[in-house]
Amino acid sequence: MAKRQSIENPRNISAQPRFHQRAREIQSYGTVSHMLPLELEEPVRLEMTEQLNQLLADTMTLRDLYKKSHWQVAGPTFYQLHLLFDKHYNEQVELVDSIAERIQLLGGVSLAMAADVAETTQIERPPRGREEVPVQLSRLLDAHQTIVRYVRTLARRASELGDDGTNDLVVSDVLRTNELQIWFLSEHLVNVPLVEAKESPAISAA
Ligand SMILES: [Fe+2]
Repeated sequence: MAKRQSIENPRNISAQPRFHQRAREIQSYGTVSHMLPLELEEPVRLEMTEQLNQLLADTMTLRDLYKKSHWQVAGPTFYQLHLLFDKHYNEQVELVDSIAERIQLLGGVSLAMAADVAETTQIERPPRGREEVPVQLSRLLDAHQTIVRYVRTLARRASELGDDGTNDLVVSDVLRTNELQIWFLSEHLVNVPLVEAKESPAISAA
């Protein structure tokens, strides 16, 4: 009887951890809560959080595609690409956190788990197995292109709605980072000689 009282009485403090707890969600996905003094109306925050969650799912997918490429890359350019892929991965990690926290500060709920991301992303799913370098690079560039296209539209919409913070985040951070990474990847797909330059027509004719 005494033991039962100690559980039921909230004033009794116990060192016993409470395991395996579950309860109802405190906020449903797809809703916006608490009006912080942001001077942004609820419909604006609803639309922006929905679009930012799409961008988040695609950015998390690209982040993971970089780690897959970092681990599975093969060939003579292994070392430089192994390092480059991880550098880009870390930059995408930063973007993921910035996008997710923007959703939360607007009162929304960020996507977080892999299964939810997989259901939401627009980026094509790669096979589990290893692929050769040109295919890895092409997949990464296609993913970047999907994100860049989406971001340009999102940036304009954020500006129209007066959400300057979202506009700034997606232009200054997301767009600029993706553009730079696109350049670094694309230069690896230029077919130039590695050791011996091709003879120019003028030299060979002489
Ligand atoms: Fe690593």
